Amino acid sequence: MLKKKLLVLFALIPLFTTAYAAADNPHIMTLAGSCAACHGTNGLSLGGTPVLAGLDAGYFVKRMHEYQKQTDSTEVMPQNVRGLTAEEILQLGQYFAEQPRAYPHAQEHSLKARSQTMRGK
Ligand code: HEC
Repeated sequence: MLKKKLLVLFALIPLFTTAYAAADNPHIMTLAGSCAACHGTNGLSLGGTPVLAGLDAGYFVKRMHEYQKQTDSTEVMPQNVRGLTAEEILQLGQYFAEQPRAYPHAQEHSLKARSQTMRGK
């Protein structure tokens, strides 16, 4: 019984170690770059596509596998996930989960606007 649990534990170790290295992995960064056209740089979408930055990694992986099952679909996402391996999906999920869901420029603008109203301009 204990032996079985230990085996499961050891089987999971490579998953965690590779997942943490997602942002340092040029292959994963290239894949993430291909998502940027629609989902924005680092997953920060400025348009109507969903924001991937800060998305829960478990939810991300689940959605990606759902898209992979939609093989007969002409929708955009099933075509984008077709060639991805489970490992790549896992690492992409880790990468996007680590990206801050913040818009530095938008914040700058609103701060400027606020300080201007406070000064009565
Ligand atoms: C050509 C545009 C396009 C590209 C490229 C693209 N996506 Fe998408 N993605 C969409 C659109 C549009 C949606 C929302 C509609 C839908 O679910 O199909 C979406 C939805 C998603 C969702 C679901 C988000 C949610 O909140 O449920 C995930 C996850 C996702 N994309 C990940 C990716 C990843 C990872 C890549 C790169 C490998 C990628 N997408 C590339 C257009 C794109």
